[in-house]
Amino acid sequence: MSPLLITVANQKGGSGKTTLAMLLSEALLRRGYATCVLDADPQASAWKWAHRAAAGASAFPVPVHRLHAQDQDGFLGQVRAQLLELPSRRSVVVLDTPPRLDSAALFWALCASDRLLVPVQPHVAYLDALEEFVALLERVDTHRKSLGARPLVCASVLLSGSGRRRSEALLTQALTRALPWPVLRTALPERAAYADAFNYRTSLAALARTSRARATLAALSKEILR
Ligand SMILES: Nc1ncnc2c1ncn2[C@@H]1O[C@H](COP(=O)(O)OP(=O)(O)OP(=O)(O)O)[C@@H](O)[C@H]1O
Ligand SMILES: [Mg+2]
Repeated sequence: MSPLLITVANQKGGSGKTTLAMLLSEALLRRGYATCVLDADPQASAWKWAHRAAAGASAFPVPVHRLHAQDQDGFLGQVRAQLLELPSRRSVVVLDTPPRLDSAALFWALCASDRLLVPVQPHVAYLDALEEFVALLERVDTHRKSLGARPLVCASVLLSGSGRRRSEALLTQALTRALPWPVLRTALPERAAYADAFNYRTSLAALARTSRARATLAALSKEILR
């Protein structure tokens, strides 16, 4: 059994992909999984998070590698090389992607992955963006079939706000109905701890008073691997 490859994708910029990829990898590490993050986004936010910690902040505990290859063979070769670096059991690779549907790296990543995680927020823009994303996944599925691969297992993670506004509850319902895959029970609330980990380029564990934030990530990682 080779390491599990989980791709985090959504063409909406700022939808929380990098935050989810990095904090999920940290949660998996804490649960005893051998883990690394692959950064396929030219913005390199995940790579910078791990390699340019703010002054005084602790280094991020999960290795993050950039994927540079321009062609499919080179890209998948780099992904496979990283999978081989990890033990075959209890290993997970999390792949962060750019906010673009026309990214070749995104297409190849989706063709090679075991799971897809799509962070969504209760805003109407996420509903509007869905149609194009589903069309991309249909092309991915056709390609996977031609390779004899199984269909990609997809799920959404809801990045929720305060939950107090009625419009937010209605949009969450509408998204849940419109998404052609399940929304995980564990939502990722908007929390200062998550934004701080991103801004200080550090782990949740290195920040004070993050036990609830860490418990949510631990629950999410369990649900994802179930
Ligand atoms: N659950 C959360 N709670 C608080 N802040 C969050 C949360 N998730 C993301 N953020 C913040 O939202 C911003 C955008 O998040 P992030 O960079 O992870 O999105 P992205 O989808 O990777 O963006 P891009 O499309 O540019 O790659 C960041 O400032 C991040 O700290
Ligand atoms: Mg990002």
